[in-house]
Amino acid sequence: MLTSAAKLPEPFTAKLPIPPVKRPSRSTGDTDHYELTAREASMEILPGLRTPIMGYDGIFPGPTIKARKGRRTVVHYRNQLGVPTVMHLHGGHTPADSDGFPTDLVLPVAGGSGYADQAVGGTTSAGTRDYTYPVNQRAATLWYHDHRMGFTGPQVWRGLAGFFLITDDEEDELPLPRGDRDVPLMITDRAFEADGALRYPAMDPHLVSMPGIDAAHMNGAIGDVILVNGAPWPQLEVEAVRYRFRILNASNARRYELTLDPPAPLTQIGSDQGLLAAPVEHSTITVAPAERYDVIVDFSAYPSGSKVVLKNGDGNVMRFVVGRAATDDSAIPARLSSIEPLPRSAATTRPWMFRQGKVTSMGEETDGWIINGREFDPQRMDATPRLGDVEIWRFGSDGHHPVHVHLSPFQVISRNGGPPGPGDHGWKDTVDLSPHELVEVAIRFDDYDGRYLVHCHNLEHEDMAMMATFRVSR
Ligand code: C2O
Ligand code: CU
Ligand code: CU
Repeated sequence: MLTSAAKLPEPFTAKLPIPPVKRPSRSTGDTDHYELTAREASMEILPGLRTPIMGYDGIFPGPTIKARKGRRTVVHYRNQLGVPTVMHLHGGHTPADSDGFPTDLVLPVAGGSGYADQAVGGTTSAGTRDYTYPVNQRAATLWYHDHRMGFTGPQVWRGLAGFFLITDDEEDELPLPRGDRDVPLMITDRAFEADGALRYPAMDPHLVSMPGIDAAHMNGAIGDVILVNGAPWPQLEVEAVRYRFRILNASNARRYELTLDPPAPLTQIGSDQGLLAAPVEHSTITVAPAERYDVIVDFSAYPSGSKVVLKNGDGNVMRFVVGRAATDDSAIPARLSSIEPLPRSAATTRPWMFRQGKVTSMGEETDGWIINGREFDPQRMDATPRLGDVEIWRFGSDGHHPVHVHLSPFQVISRNGGPPGPGDHGWKDTVDLSPHELVEVAIRFDDYDGRYLVHCHNLEHEDMAMMATFRVSR
């Protein structure tokens, strides 16, 4: 773990920030347009210190984009940073040319041409690029983040991540908590230098054991400060009613075991890709990088004045202070949605083995992370499913790997030959693998052909080549 050199605040002294909702720059009949700029900025994360960040619109988390199923969203993206970037909508059912392939680089507005040769097998855009999202998908808590090949870890660590929430009629008809009782929680961990700058492993000389790559980098960057919506161990005042929390683990590599203290159930209503068929009560939820859990917490179970801590194991994440009772017309319906199981007969089975291995970095062989014995090559196709087909993807692992597939949501059908786990309900786009686990998912390739990715969402593993391509063909 990376230990901060900066003076850290007492937990629960910061107020939970809520990322601002972005306004469209214009809306036409069926399309909402947004102007989004990645740029450098500085913000006060630790009291009295300025932290330089890379932020969408200069903030971390970036602004929340709210999209409506059936209305196209176009993001007119501008890269004002000094390095190439790639924007990806995580969980988006997106045509390939807007999906943010890691070598489809948006070069810096100023003087980006020097980076053009990094677009191996991809495209370059000079400073700006339009990303078009059809949003023909159900209501869900998605997020957008940087996806530049080899640099996703450091660029997301510096702040390039934001929420993208999709709503639809089905969800609107349910009596779920809404308005300021529907709260997005982006959980990340970070470490800080004495002056407030973010500390990232490759830049930490004490940890470097081999050129370019060090032990902390190898296992993924884990910091000692937990931020929620960019604030360290914050606090939120709540009324004694039901709240909906959209929990996103946007950390590079840390997984969380979340509980409430004093205990109360975390009632899960949604997963990565929207509503479950029925609510599921958990006392603990394990959230791997990139996973989302939509949960309801009923604070009326606590006496007014209670202080309720959201814990990660023995550590703190944030705290709720319960106020007075208030009217609450929300409910948790016993039936939330319908989830048709994907047909599995006649489906092709594809194995994907995630493990440690040798990769080439700057011309030298070094330790890295590979899939099916090979490191990422943006010019090679590793699988070619056909449009409309259902396949069974069998993920195996030597360690902890949160596996994410672009384009298509999937259903977890087994773990080690047994039933799916407690966090596997509903439609998913990221599934957590424990060491030596075999997880099978059913996945259907709909609507769009072209080149997409499957990868480990431990961002340092991803940057160290644990990524593969697939091409959906007609
Ligand atoms: Cu959240 Cu390929 O990414
Ligand atoms: Cu993704
Ligand atoms: Cu991994």
